[in-house]
Amino acid sequence: MTDWTTLRRVAAEAMARAYAPYSGYPVGAALECADGSVIGGCNVENASFPAGICAERAAVAAAVSTGHRQFRRLALCTTGAQPAAPCGVCRQVLMEFAPTLDIVSFTPGGAEARWSLGDLLPAPFVFRPSSHGAA
Ligand code: THU
Repeated sequence: MTDWTTLRRVAAEAMARAYAPYSGYPVGAALECADGSVIGGCNVENASFPAGICAERAAVAAAVSTGHRQFRRLALCTTGAQPAAPCGVCRQVLMEFAPTLDIVSFTPGGAEARWSLGDLLPAPFVFRPSSHGAA
């Protein structure tokens, strides 16, 4: 299993590549996949604000696009005084692939927080077509 040091390094490197000219809030994420590979992602903002994507979902998209669908751990790197918790949309997206994900969020200044994804999203939306009347 990859150590947290590697995950944190990849998250910090991803944060350095963030494109966040509108918020000025760069975010880096690193996902550890079931085979031990580590894949990073950063937030990518857009002049049309809702078109931007969070670092966590960028990492999920990169991972799934390269054949990874199971994740064990996530490291998140942000600046500022407090470590950031993943936003609600990212929690739901992470839940799709990693219901037991362990998360560490940290800042370069040394602040740190830990959660399990289940703690952050105890009641995810689950789509069951049969229960919605679909054929
Ligand atoms: N952001 C993330 O990358 N991840 C989150 O979980 C919350 C927010 C980004 C989106 C936007 O580029 C900036 O942080 C400010 O909201």
